[in-house]
Amino acid sequence: MANEDQFKKVISHAKEYGYVFQSSEIYDGLSAVYDYAQNGVELKKNIRDYWWKAMVQMHDNIVGLDAAIFMHPTTWKASGHVDAFSDPLIDNKDSKKRYRADVLVEDYCAKIEAKIEKEVKKAEKRFGEAFNKQEFVSTNGRVVGYQEKIDSILKRLGQSLEKEDLADVKALIEELEIADPLTGSRNWTDVKQFNLMFGTKLGASAESAMDLYLRPETAQGIFVNFLNVQKTGRMKIPFGIAQTGKAFRNEIVARQFIFRMREFEQMEMQFFIKPGTQKEWFEHWKETRMKWHLSLGMGEDNYRFHDHEKLAHYADAATDIEFKFPFGFKELEGIHSRTDFDLKQHEEFSGKKLQYFDHEDNASYTPYVLETSIGLDRMFLAVFSNALVEEELENNTTRTVLKLPAVLAPIKAAILPLVKKDGLPEVAQKIVEDLKWDFNVTYDEKDAVGRRYRRQDANGTPFCITVDHDTLEDNTVTIRHRDTMEQKRVKIEDLKDIIKAEVDVKHWLQKM
Ligand code: GAP
Repeated sequence: MANEDQFKKVISHAKEYGYVFQSSEIYDGLSAVYDYAQNGVELKKNIRDYWWKAMVQMHDNIVGLDAAIFMHPTTWKASGHVDAFSDPLIDNKDSKKRYRADVLVEDYCAKIEAKIEKEVKKAEKRFGEAFNKQEFVSTNGRVVGYQEKIDSILKRLGQSLEKEDLADVKALIEELEIADPLTGSRNWTDVKQFNLMFGTKLGASAESAMDLYLRPETAQGIFVNFLNVQKTGRMKIPFGIAQTGKAFRNEIVARQFIFRMREFEQMEMQFFIKPGTQKEWFEHWKETRMKWHLSLGMGEDNYRFHDHEKLAHYADAATDIEFKFPFGFKELEGIHSRTDFDLKQHEEFSGKKLQYFDHEDNASYTPYVLETSIGLDRMFLAVFSNALVEEELENNTTRTVLKLPAVLAPIKAAILPLVKKDGLPEVAQKIVEDLKWDFNVTYDEKDAVGRRYRRQDANGTPFCITVDHDTLEDNTVTIRHRDTMEQKRVKIEDLKDIIKAEVDVKHWLQKM
């Protein structure tokens, strides 16, 4: 499937199978706002739990927090978001469409990258088993040329943004002859900065109302609670505070489905460390987070690190874990060495000390912070788009299957009576009653069993359990595996252990 087709398929499959709906669809929707439906909410919860377990439960020096979305407005002055949380935007004078200038340039680079991929695929075909991708991309003249072009464009973009040289960003767009993707027009305005925070009001009357912001990141809720948690939890540095929750950004170019939303959920962890140790912790968390991703078995080649040229106002080092989405490699998670910027700023703006007394050194200091920050919705899209495949079967038919990691699948097993009579539904219902204490399971008796298998495949259910007439004789059922389609006869009493062996979080996280 071509990438664009694959992406369209992902969006329509997410709707058809009750994963993601456009918000307020009956009113024609709200741009870049989405609702998670009956299966989506389970998948999202399972991803969140998988993260929480790895980050909080498995670390005795990391604890959780659930801070409010509303925060005192000075928080955002201190954090730098009021002054510096903006994107460079550019308007097309002909189409009147608004774009993020940096995204236009990045999309241009993604097109060159697609050419590299094409060359690699061609060479793979030509050389067969002997093909060495690493060697090919570092020696093939055309590919090296493409890569150099990408590197030089992104370097210039990074430097111009860093220096706030918006005139040069426009010059770059013009030099690359980037056109409006919708109309092909190259009639651009100057590049301007646009603050991404949503404002709102707190209070009953217009005169006394206080201007607030919807938080654009969950991290600040952790910083302002740093000392509360450290003292009440008697935490010793190094320690972390983790939190999941909604964040809001008035994205200029909100598109690509749930990749860039205006209301989304983050899973963030701030790790408080001794100043001077940030480099080693940066490496530690890069490695740990990548292992978490790889534990889900979504393919090593689908991930890469991208170190930042342009650092955010608070960071002394930063990298993205990028994932290969249907529209190319894009940021999935950020790992930032945030120095003592945030705590120092909050100390200054609040007038309260946010320091740690180190008993070993007999001294107080403002801790440095290492942050890991992943978008839950973006992780959902990574998992979902990677899982959706169309398979050619031996009998020349195809099947659509959602190969979700079993630990994340919304429904772990479907229980199917072969026919709707002879007491089979009753036995199947009894199995549902037993299994539902441990797993999310479903009962399905409609249509021929083959069609029910296909429906569950497309829904991502790892196991189908079929109750037939033999079940009445010997208490055995057929268990069918979604990915291999292999069927086995097993005892009803063994079902729980068989399912658990594949869906248990421990089984997956132990791969880290
Ligand atoms: N506290 C640091 C922070 O917020 P970020 O790189 O701006 O850093 C972290 O965001 C992660 O949040 C990103 O890697 C991405 O997964 C997710 N994210 C950011 N903006 C998003 C949006 N508009 N829609 C969906 N996810 C988003």
